[in-house]
Amino acid sequence: MAPSTLYEPYDLGPYTLSNRIVMAPLTRSRAGAGNVPQDINAEYYGQRATAGLIITEASQISPQGCGYPSTPGIHSPEQVKGWIKVTKEVHDRGGRIFLQLWHVGRISHPSLQEDGALPVAPMALQPRGDAFTYQGLKPFVMPRALETGEIPGIVGQYRRAAENALMAGFDGVEVHAANGYLLDQFLRDGTNFRTDGYGGSRRNRSRLLMEVLETVTGIWGGERVGVRLSPLNGFNDISDTDPQATFGHVVEALNRFGLAYLHAVEVDMTGKLGDTFDWQKLRNAFDGPYMANGGYGRERAEQSIDSGPADLVSFGVPFIANPDLPARLAEGATLNKADPETFYGGDSRGYTDYPTLKDKAA
Ligand code: PHB
Repeated sequence: MAPSTLYEPYDLGPYTLSNRIVMAPLTRSRAGAGNVPQDINAEYYGQRATAGLIITEASQISPQGCGYPSTPGIHSPEQVKGWIKVTKEVHDRGGRIFLQLWHVGRISHPSLQEDGALPVAPMALQPRGDAFTYQGLKPFVMPRALETGEIPGIVGQYRRAAENALMAGFDGVEVHAANGYLLDQFLRDGTNFRTDGYGGSRRNRSRLLMEVLETVTGIWGGERVGVRLSPLNGFNDISDTDPQATFGHVVEALNRFGLAYLHAVEVDMTGKLGDTFDWQKLRNAFDGPYMANGGYGRERAEQSIDSGPADLVSFGVPFIANPDLPARLAEGATLNKADPETFYGGDSRGYTDYPTLKDKAA
């Protein structure tokens, strides 16, 4: 049997990716003081440069967008300098790298905000659960509802972050509109029944994402901008009464931007079962490349690429433990097992010390 096209080059916007295997965004919480990327972060991404494309861990677009300890930002000059080390290392090793733009909205805590401010959200609805703070887990607080007049300021945060990403040498950006963070909080009817132009109807709930994309594609061009959505994910206490209709609407509205790809998280990170969602229908509504994500292994990835619906498949946890994941998948080699104890925070252990096949042979 012919080898799968998973391992063949793929033309994505202006780039020719070396394969269709993408490193998914993964929070690792190992940025330095000031949420600045360090040499060790450059080493980590450089080790994974054989991915067709790397999407960085979610990176806050502003101090207000931060919701976790030691996640990198893209709002200060020091952070831009730090990211330059990362993009250089990846490019020197022949890879391509997009930055994921992140605003957490209500999934934060006053202790992570400037002057102990309240996290902001579409509405004053307190999420169930706990925030990760520098002082350990603390219950989420009641967020402050954004006023209509503050929305241009949010779009402005995305604009400056997108400009910074360009200066930092990235190949593109991914707008994070998934997993219960700010843009997803606007998209879903469980967290957004605002009565202004940014809430209520599907069209209104999509408005902020569309304004963000208008701005970000104005800087990067649509062909270097991706969007991540997670229609089924209940993570971060998020919900929608009709995900198929909501995200069908969102995807149709995305078409006018000529985006690099739609990145779909096809799973529910809270582990709930019962997938009644029609992914093929969502995929068909989108005019551009479809990047599938969520628990894919070798066989399902090959199948999804060779007989549709995916053009690209992104892998998360397997990339943590296997810096040379594309080679391993191509050879059908055994994969290293990832250690969840070292996913978030810490040092080089469980970060830059997973062996490649070559290391093992040496
Ligand atoms: C996390 O830190 O757990 C996290 C961050 C971003 C995501 C999902 C999970 O999109």
